[in-house]
Amino acid sequence: MHDDGVFTRHESGVDAPGLKRPHAILPEPHVAPADPDFKADPARAQTGAKLFVNCMLCHGQNAVAAGAAPDLRFSGVPADAMAFAQVVRDGALLPRGMPKFDDLTPAQVEDIRFYVRTRSHEPEDAVGVKTKFEF
Ligand code: HEC
Repeated sequence: MHDDGVFTRHESGVDAPGLKRPHAILPEPHVAPADPDFKADPARAQTGAKLFVNCMLCHGQNAVAAGAAPDLRFSGVPADAMAFAQVVRDGALLPRGMPKFDDLTPAQVEDIRFYVRTRSHEPEDAVGVKTKFEF
């Protein structure tokens, strides 16, 4: 994609060279939520990354969602420890198809939360932590 947010044939394989796509079909901009308390912690992020196998089926490999469930990198919920625990451990969104994981310990839920926040803040491995896994 170019700086002006326009795809060309070269990148998309769809449009004629130089043809500008109408804005209506451009993807929504994905913006990481405000999370001022976040501090990188590679060890925790890595523990959480492994625990994310529980979530990957719906929320996507490496926390990149493919449409089955919200992309957690762009959700405000992980920035709030209590809200995150209510959804993940207590089943607050159970009626909407988000399972409850009450077999995870509160510490494990926090590790997952840390991982998701890391993916949101450092989506391209900028801190050198292995937060992406090939399966
Ligand atoms: C069976 C599929 C499935 C699995 C597995 C799953 N989720 Fe979800 N999750 C969902 C769906 C569907 C929603 C959206 C619910 C809604 O519409 O409000 C959701 C929503 C969420 C939300 C709220 C996002 C928001 O912005 O509203 C969080 C946080 C979340 N999931 C975390 C997790 C974590 C952490 C795991 C792994 C421990 C996990 N989920 C595993 C399906 C799943």
